[in-house]
Amino acid sequence: MRFLALDKLINLEDGYRRRFKIDSLDLILAKEGVEIFAFGAVCPHQEQSLDDALIEEDVVYCPRHNFGFSLRSGAHVEGFCSALPVYVVHYEGNEVGVLIDR
Ligand code: FES
Repeated sequence: MRFLALDKLINLEDGYRRRFKIDSLDLILAKEGVEIFAFGAVCPHQEQSLDDALIEEDVVYCPRHNFGFSLRSGAHVEGFCSALPVYVVHYEGNEVGVLIDR
């Protein structure tokens, strides 16, 4: 696993939301309250952008059909849709990012 830095920790205020497209990755880094999440930027159902998706209690809700996906596991809450990619948030020094396989 390697650390992919995305932003400075100081920039992540409550409500922070930013999309990153880096090589084949397309993900959103978000902060809600004290929690920081990193998840795929596109809904696995019908590829709706999740840029403005609602996050409530560790679940992100797609704005098109309101499917909820766990930001811990990526699993669809109702269990009949594919999972949303979720990433391990990691910190190094004053930077925040994700751990990726390559
Ligand atoms: S496109 Fe996201 S729930 Fe249908």
